[in-house]
Amino acid sequence: MKDVKQNTLKEEKILNFLEKNCDFEWHLSLHEEVESTNDYLFEFANPNEYCLCVAESQTKGRGRNLKKWQSPKYENIYMSLSFSTNKELKNFSSFSLVSALAVHNVLLGQNIFTEIKWPNDIYLNKKKIGGILIETFSKDGKNLIVVGIGLNVFMKNNTEIDKDWSSLELEFENIEIDRNEIISKIANEVLLLKSNFERKGFDGFVKDFNKLNFLKDKKVFLSNSISKEGTALDINSDGSLNVRIDNQTKKISSGEVSININ
Ligand code: BTN
Repeated sequence: MKDVKQNTLKEEKILNFLEKNCDFEWHLSLHEEVESTNDYLFEFANPNEYCLCVAESQTKGRGRNLKKWQSPKYENIYMSLSFSTNKELKNFSSFSLVSALAVHNVLLGQNIFTEIKWPNDIYLNKKKIGGILIETFSKDGKNLIVVGIGLNVFMKNNTEIDKDWSSLELEFENIEIDRNEIISKIANEVLLLKSNFERKGFDGFVKDFNKLNFLKDKKVFLSNSISKEGTALDINSDGSLNVRIDNQTKKISSGEVSININ
């Protein structure tokens, strides 16, 4: 691991990089250890602020489909961001793709080119380096979105992860990365894209997204009640994925199935 002191998260650094928005104030909570940054915001998010919860480690980090998210101390980024919206919560079902695009944009600014595996994974050199977990709820009569983001930065060993994974450091030895800066830039970018998303919906992103679509033309397994094999095609303007199965194109929505690459 890198020099831990140099790389610890610092409140003043994160705040310094956060763009000050005219509509809401930021509320940052930084923890040495937390059960899950998403759960923390479920409890403490204020609908009248942009809340950002970051942690050096999580004891109950969660991924999609009830999977555990490996969250060793000081090694990675574990962050959740919450904001309220006047839109209906069901409109945010494709926001995990938009959040993944935000992570992609920030890493591109560091000359790191990632792809997005529909509906919520960030891939680098064909391996998963990050994931998004979006959760929504209502509080004080307002609709709230929690965007949870995990990004592997310095992690080099982990025997608990069941798929091909990597981290920025594993892919680029001796990479100079300040997690504080990356966290703030991701939060800024998610909010920027959120404004566009509220105005134009996913339609405004679909072209960009299809250039980064990791699954395109790959053989995939759709695992619901009946496992089926097909070929992934493009993403649609509602955020669903087209899959060619038995000479027919089917629209798959993200809550419906989990996808494994063949
Ligand atoms: C996935 O790929 O399945 C989504 C992983 C999301 C992990 C992040 S880490 C920060 C936030 N807190 C959690 O408990 N989960 C998300």
